[in-house]
Amino acid sequence: MTQAATLKKMMHRTPPQAGVSTHGPQPRVVCVTSGKGGVGKTNLTVNMAYALARQGKKVLVLDADLNLANVDILLGMTPKFNLHHMFTGEKSLKEVMVTGPGGILILPGSSGIMELANLTENQKLYFLSEMEELNQQLDIMLIDTAAGINENVIYFNLAAQERIVILTPEPTSLTDAYALIKVLSTRHDVKRFSIIVNLAESEKEAIAVFRQISLVCDQFLGTLSLDFLGHIPYDKKLIQAVRSQRLVTDLFPDASASRMICKIAQQLDATKPASTTDGNIKFFWPQFS
Ligand SMILES: Nc1ncnc2c1ncn2[C@@H]1O[C@H](COP(=O)(O)OP(=O)(O)OP(=O)(O)O)[C@@H](O)[C@H]1O
Ligand SMILES: [Mg+2]
Repeated sequence: MTQAATLKKMMHRTPPQAGVSTHGPQPRVVCVTSGKGGVGKTNLTVNMAYALARQGKKVLVLDADLNLANVDILLGMTPKFNLHHMFTGEKSLKEVMVTGPGGILILPGSSGIMELANLTENQKLYFLSEMEELNQQLDIMLIDTAAGINENVIYFNLAAQERIVILTPEPTSLTDAYALIKVLSTRHDVKRFSIIVNLAESEKEAIAVFRQISLVCDQFLGTLSLDFLGHIPYDKKLIQAVRSQRLVTDLFPDASASRMICKIAQQLDATKPASTTDGNIKFFWPQFS
């Protein structure tokens, strides 16, 4: 479709009513986030997607790092197009989407500066309408965010029904996770978070880290709900898999990290979404522009 035709299509679209799905069932939308960079978000997201796909779920991974996308790199894929092409109207969502291991669908992020806040209303509505077609085929959408607390990260966190915050036993990771939770809870009224501790030496250490973050949040942020979703140990096999641009759950299914990620995926699948009225792709709806 030419850019002019795409724009025309966007212009003539009737905006959906905020907060209301215009079509059938909506997938569960979970955002994986952290505050601090390099704590394992992308590895968890894509491996969890793979584990869920193995359990029979139709999964989509949205690479929400719109500046330094790396889901595709982790998978050794070289997609021709990315979300940037969709937002500029050059390509449709289907043309941008690629299929990864286990049949997981991937929306590759872009590499270049792209602020969602700068997208026009029509661009957001176009994305929404494109997603609606896809939604009906999906069980779950996992969003892998960039590090930090920039506008895009907040945007995607608000888009999701549920947020998984990853942290490690390092104090800097704890303070950055706290800073993110603080912004989301005090400025955006997000009150529920699932916590995963990566690079923990043991479950005991992971639980101690979870207690620490719970305590700080309790003391300074008031009533929040923090759930411990699990932990992932340090595992050389994961590093080896990353270097081979393969998923550890695929390459080394019996590795300790793989087993824990599969357990987390099962646990996530077993829990009900935090809210049924929240989430989906509401971030592209007018009230979030
Ligand atoms: N459980 C683990 N065991 C061993 N190494 C790990 C583990 N988790 C993550 N790593 C290492 O940390 C690196 C960064 O992981 P990943 O890319 O998933 O983090 P990220 O939070 O997505 O980073 P960014 O913030 O830059 O997007 C991996 O490439 C790997 O080397
Ligand atoms: Mg990442």
